[in-house]
Amino acid sequence: MKRLMNWIDARFPLTSTWKSQVTEYYAPKNFNFWYFFGSLALLVLVIQIVSGIFLTMNYKPDSALAFNSVEYIMRDVKWGWLIRYIHSTGASMFFVVVYLHMFRGIIYGSYKKPRELIWIFGMLIFLVLMAEAFMGYLLPWGQMSYWGAQVIISLFGAIPVVGGAISTWIRGDFVVSDATLNRFFAFHVIALPLILLGLVVAHLVALHEVGSNNPDGIEIKEHLDPETGIPLDGIPFHPYYTIKDLVGVVAFLFIFSAIVFFAPTFGGHFLEANNFLPANPMKTPPTIEPVWYFTPYYAILRAVPNKLVGVILMGLSVVIYFFVPWLDRSPVKSVRYRGVIYKTALTLFVISFLALGFLGTCPPTPTYVMITRFFGTLYFGFFLLMPWYTRIDKTKPVPERVTNR
Ligand code: HEM
Repeated sequence: MKRLMNWIDARFPLTSTWKSQVTEYYAPKNFNFWYFFGSLALLVLVIQIVSGIFLTMNYKPDSALAFNSVEYIMRDVKWGWLIRYIHSTGASMFFVVVYLHMFRGIIYGSYKKPRELIWIFGMLIFLVLMAEAFMGYLLPWGQMSYWGAQVIISLFGAIPVVGGAISTWIRGDFVVSDATLNRFFAFHVIALPLILLGLVVAHLVALHEVGSNNPDGIEIKEHLDPETGIPLDGIPFHPYYTIKDLVGVVAFLFIFSAIVFFAPTFGGHFLEANNFLPANPMKTPPTIEPVWYFTPYYAILRAVPNKLVGVILMGLSVVIYFFVPWLDRSPVKSVRYRGVIYKTALTLFVISFLALGFLGTCPPTPTYVMITRFFGTLYFGFFLLMPWYTRIDKTKPVPERVTNR
């Protein structure tokens, strides 16, 4: 074995990479619950790729066959129902995990110097993930697949002069059709997953370059053991965090399987009732609403009377996260050492995000629109006022070394 390893190491940096990135990669020793979600996002990515490969073996990307091929998978393919429910549940759980992962980044200021690029790569991942989910949703060719795609693609029509041409270009036709299904399939199964994988690698390379942040927002590299040069508050990633992450994996798989086996549609939130009807271009469903993970942004779109302004604000509600590293002017990273103003702003932000998510599922009556505008203002206020309130916020002194040592 040793001779084999020597042979490989003379030709490929296996042992040295394993050491520098895993067994001698020092992570802060105070990681808590919130630090489970990075490894869980990796797990869900693998689950989606593997279940997706098996689905593709029986799925037909043809508007005349797609819906029935999914029913065939559900009824006739051995374990097909399981593979499909794993993939559909995985899509929603991906967003649950990624939203919690992003929230961790926000509460501990993990986007602040020197981790801005980790955050930017994360945001790019988030955008690609949204495109991946949107295109995947067209594939079963159900009523909501069809009309959801119709609504979202037609939004590009709001762009002055070239908008209509752009919508037609995306669809490859004047309406959502077989051409649209084929290109969405190509993007969903190969182009976007490739980009996603590349971005995840970049995300992790950037992370390992600067090292992880932690719940105290302290740079562990600033306190090294004078003899070994190892961070005093660091522990090797392996075995400590590989084992700890495994606990998160087991807990996650427990919840994941409970959903797959007992509530795969999750009350119509993970798989919408209307999508069990085949797409009918001649019949618009009474309500068109996106899957839950898009509803906060959808609510913002619907709360604005002018279509173009609505589209711009919806886009901004996602893109604005890119700027957080520069909007936040606080001298401290972690919420633990921030003052009451920041904590209030953060609480209002969480409430407004959840409220918008709920409002995006309601019919747009005038009252709902007014409430949505209120929460939409709070949502944008969190970001736009950040340079101001993070500067006047009275922060607490940050300890020298991590707490809970
Ligand atoms: C496929 C999606 C993603 C995967 C697989 C992924 C993976 C990871 C992993 C394994 C870590 C290290 C473990 C941890 O800190 O939890 C990490 C850290 C981080 N991720 Fe992600 N990530 C994803 C998406 C995102 C997104 C969407 C954002 C934000 C926009 C983001 C921002 C961050 C930040 C700021 C860190 C450093 C956290 C810290 O050191 O405190 N990630 N990511």
